[in-house]
Amino acid sequence: MSKTITRVRDQFPILQRSINGHPLHYLDNAATTFCPDTVLDKVYEFETGYRANVARGVHRLAAEATDAYESARASVARYINAFDPSEVVFTSGTTAAVNQLAYSLGESIAAGDEILVSMIEHHSNFVPWQMLCKRKGAKLQLIPVDENGVLDLSNLSSLINERTRIVAVTQASNVTGEMPDLGLLAQAAHQVEAKLVVDGAQAVPHGPVDVQALGADFYVFSGHKCYAPTGVGVLWGKGALLSELPEFMYGGGMVERVTPAGTRFLETNQRLEAGTPPIAQAIGLGEAVEWLMMLPWVDIKTHEAKLLGRLANELPSIAGLRVLGPALEGARLPIVSFDIEDCHPHDICHLLDQRAVALRGGHHCAQPLMDALDVMATTRASFAVFNTDADVDALLEGLHEAVDFLR
Ligand code: ALA
Repeated sequence: MSKTITRVRDQFPILQRSINGHPLHYLDNAATTFCPDTVLDKVYEFETGYRANVARGVHRLAAEATDAYESARASVARYINAFDPSEVVFTSGTTAAVNQLAYSLGESIAAGDEILVSMIEHHSNFVPWQMLCKRKGAKLQLIPVDENGVLDLSNLSSLINERTRIVAVTQASNVTGEMPDLGLLAQAAHQVEAKLVVDGAQAVPHGPVDVQALGADFYVFSGHKCYAPTGVGVLWGKGALLSELPEFMYGGGMVERVTPAGTRFLETNQRLEAGTPPIAQAIGLGEAVEWLMMLPWVDIKTHEAKLLGRLANELPSIAGLRVLGPALEGARLPIVSFDIEDCHPHDICHLLDQRAVALRGGHHCAQPLMDALDVMATTRASFAVFNTDADVDALLEGLHEAVDFLR
């Protein structure tokens, strides 16, 4: 194991856990991952040192909490290269952020308009748009996939037209690790003045993002997949677009003046954060992205490519195993889904769990993709910055043993 990865691993207390006498091999990072010490410490400091509500009080603790919360917003802005921290809105997660957009951007959607999503989307970037179309009488257009579940962008010009108002696509598939060509999608969307909404939930844990270079108009992600606590997420919107976004939830913390006759809202992004926000979680997220910005990404990418290379060489030795999605080598994320003939993913996951290998088996909240691939479910191994060759060894040994047992 390289010194870089050892140093990274040493920062995760949970990696000391063992199950059934085996060291933990956690390969379910696309579902959620762990917090390093620095994030846990930051949350503990808030809880024990200055826990208070934000943007409301004048006492010392309230001021400290507000400073830490706003400083987390600035850290997130730096991590995703937002033009300004005021473009960052804290939500409870990716799902909340997409739903917020589907309601607020959705207010201007009319019958006959079109919204384009892809067949590789997680349900959270699919169902809110599908429901918006149903509410408004708009049409949901779908970017298809090929027989491996890889997006087919060859007919994009027939899917985007002057009626297209929103294009909502993931930066990386939570099932296959595919990273669609967002440059092409941004160009096609902007040609017809449609807004590009990018789901960054899976991409954000794998290194700093540049929302401006991506050409995104809106970008959403969750904290818990990028080494931060659960219950916090981000909705980023390009300056002017965010300021034009209608309020979605109403309540405290987002108003300037309320009278029986009506309400005037704040002009800042706080008008989009009604109620007490996830304060500890956002502060943890700020620390997580600061930590992510310090990691040696060139070394980590080389390490990840090596682990994927091993899987590319060794998975084919399991008879009847089919890897779904793009080739394991190339520009993609270390999220690997496979189908094994005559072996149900839940059985595989249960058997590997006996060896402390944590995988996910199921439809991964991506049933349109499962249908297109003609499978009910897949087994998925998803890697984080702390995974090692030992995790790959345990996965491969466990799969061989499970397949022998099940057949
Ligand atoms: N979106 C998470 C996953 O892919 C829950 O597992």
